[in-house]
Amino acid sequence: MARTIVGVDTVAERFEVTGGARLIGEVAVTGAKNSVLKLMAAALLAQGTSTIRAVPNILDVDIMAELLRRLGCDVGHDVEQQLVTISVPQTLHHQADYDLVRKMRASICVLGPLIARCGLADVALPGGDAIGSRGLDMHIEGLTKLGADIQSEHGYLLARAPQGLTGAHVAFDFPSVGATENVVMAAVLASGVTVIDNAAREPEIVDLCQMLIAMGASIEGVGGSTLTIEGVDALSSVDHTAVPDRVVAGTWAVGAVLTQGDITIHGGRIDHLELPLEKLHACGAVIDEVADGFRVRMSSRPQSVDVATLPYPGFPTDLQPMIIALASISEGTAMITENVFEARFMFVNEMVRLGALIRTDGHHAVVRGRPELSGAPVRATDIRAGAGLVLAGLVADGITTISEVHHLDRGYPGFVESLNALGASVVRSPDPDIG
Ligand code: UD1
Repeated sequence: MARTIVGVDTVAERFEVTGGARLIGEVAVTGAKNSVLKLMAAALLAQGTSTIRAVPNILDVDIMAELLRRLGCDVGHDVEQQLVTISVPQTLHHQADYDLVRKMRASICVLGPLIARCGLADVALPGGDAIGSRGLDMHIEGLTKLGADIQSEHGYLLARAPQGLTGAHVAFDFPSVGATENVVMAAVLASGVTVIDNAAREPEIVDLCQMLIAMGASIEGVGGSTLTIEGVDALSSVDHTAVPDRVVAGTWAVGAVLTQGDITIHGGRIDHLELPLEKLHACGAVIDEVADGFRVRMSSRPQSVDVATLPYPGFPTDLQPMIIALASISEGTAMITENVFEARFMFVNEMVRLGALIRTDGHHAVVRGRPELSGAPVRATDIRAGAGLVLAGLVADGITTISEVHHLDRGYPGFVESLNALGASVVRSPDPDIG
């Protein structure tokens, strides 16, 4: 697989999915992308060498490693052992440039650790995104409450806290994952107590807090919507294993139901997927816990179910495209409501190219199920949309060609290999239409 981070363009590739296979077999889920990236950023908070385990072999990890190197760290990535080691010097550089930040929005999570460690940070604004405007106002508001002065100049956020940060009360309007993470990572080294109300409660936030606690941070209320953080003078390096990826596990679960298959998902955490698995059960799936994960089986055409996305423990927005793919071939009509990212229905136009009967109105999509979709060329607009289109291709007549699959490389390690091992027919090849 050609994977280039900066400088040279990645070779454009596409997937050719031949419809009709049932996904049957076993898969293993590694650590969550959305956790590992933040854990890597959190390593900046302590001088010394930290180790993160269960790291997926995906492009975003390479981008974050490169970003940390530019900040002055030595970063090693052992793909076989699925671990990353980060050696953090006493003095860090404080600038995260646009060439990396624009490739991965999650780069913004170095903002909190850099202000906490250096008293200043210059982080490029990430710019446009295919799934909505994704503001940073709550990140800025939270860090400003802790005493940072943050200005936007020449495409950068310039954050300054020459006297250090001071604990404060931060109440979010909405439980933003990224803003909660940035404020937590800044507050652990602030002087005094920070209370975050309406904090995000995603398992990846719990994972981050647990790593910070292992580094010596004092955080109470982990897993709840109020976090109380008492700042400490210094943290120490850590060896931490990331939480399994619930979105990847959920993608396989939907894949089993959609193709009337039978997949055992090793490493999948049932307790992190309660609502999605409840919905799949309502579709007719049989779900069993196994020793190190769970098994999803389906033996008839799925029934339609309504779904509304919400912050955790609500239904994850990152599984919405897969649920739309499922609803497209289910029996009956489903109402899918997107409450987190305004523009996430953009990919619906690609689903319509596959024959899906979908009408959107604002943040609602009405999906009328049909027995089968019809293969066509489509385009992955982001990671999760790409996964939804691959699943749709599995139940489409003929061949579905999905272009711009570099998006999938950002979140699904070994996706094609796993799909084929489960019985699908998916070929990855250079895209002749994109030179
Ligand atoms: C993270 C995940 C993403 C997931 C999302 C919601 C990573 C790398 N990405 O994204 O996969 O879909 O959580 O579970 O972990 N918002 C503002 N102002 C802010 C911050 C957010 O308006 O300052 C809005 C966003 O535009 C969006 C909503 O709040 O509409 C949710 O965003 P947030 O929870 O922050 O998601 P991310 O951290 O960007």
